[in-house]
Amino acid sequence: MSRKKVTILTLKEKREKGEPITMLTAYDYPTGLLVDQAGIDILLVGDSLAMVVLGHENTVSVTMDEMLHHCKAVARGAKTPLLVGDMPFMSYQVDVKEAIHNAGRFLKEGGMDVVKLEGGVEVAPTVRAIVDAGIPVMGHIGLTPQTISKLGGFRVQGKDVAAARALIESAQALEQAGAFALILEAIPSPVAQLITRRVSIPTIGIGAGPHCNGQVLVMHDMIGLFDRFVPKFVKQYTNIFPLVLQALTAYRDEVITGSFPGPEHGYPLSDEAVEALLKELGQDVSGEDAGG
Ligand code: KIV
Repeated sequence: MSRKKVTILTLKEKREKGEPITMLTAYDYPTGLLVDQAGIDILLVGDSLAMVVLGHENTVSVTMDEMLHHCKAVARGAKTPLLVGDMPFMSYQVDVKEAIHNAGRFLKEGGMDVVKLEGGVEVAPTVRAIVDAGIPVMGHIGLTPQTISKLGGFRVQGKDVAAARALIESAQALEQAGAFALILEAIPSPVAQLITRRVSIPTIGIGAGPHCNGQVLVMHDMIGLFDRFVPKFVKQYTNIFPLVLQALTAYRDEVITGSFPGPEHGYPLSDEAVEALLKELGQDVSGEDAGG
């Protein structure tokens, strides 16, 4: 059954009706297809691709061009979810004009519907400018991986009263700036619940407990395709790394022993045609030179 394209209005309605919103990352054509076919509402081409697809230590080094390359592939596979392009580090911090220009590239070149950027009160004017240019923006507060050097590593945020208050103020500033939804990453559940009550836009949690309006996970974490670590907040629904490895080693073994390819994987030629061909080449059926 074909589903209706998810828009920012669909998400608003879901929040109003109390229907949970689902979101996952994808980075290329096949993962885009999978997210679409799983009936997920929002697909994020996250800058997490720097780590889980490109093998970098963190998300800081990924570029606009790399992000757009992956967005284009995802957009060819995923037609129904709302497509979110993740603005990479330093594509929106330097100046507002550049931020609008780069946000526009995600829609014009990358085939995305909206963009996401990290930060709180300090990025609110940039969010306002991008929204005023006609591009919907999703905010992202709490653990913001682009600034892990400043945060001192991948760690839970908002653990004391002052930090929790700052998160609430950031959420409200982003809503006022026109953000249509917020990612809340790695913050205590009661803080996420308070934020969700105090804003009227959908909140999507990752390591933020069950009281958000929706949940997001990084696909490669939840299917076991990232080798380095599994964050505490991830549930692994499958672990495909050993399965794929088993298939690859079985293939290697069968090529070495000669059991692959079998006759069913090849293209036959009739005996008459083989005979005629050998005759023409001056060879007998065994492939030896005839009459030599
Ligand atoms: O880049 C990403 O995958 C993200 C998610 C963790 C929300 O920002």
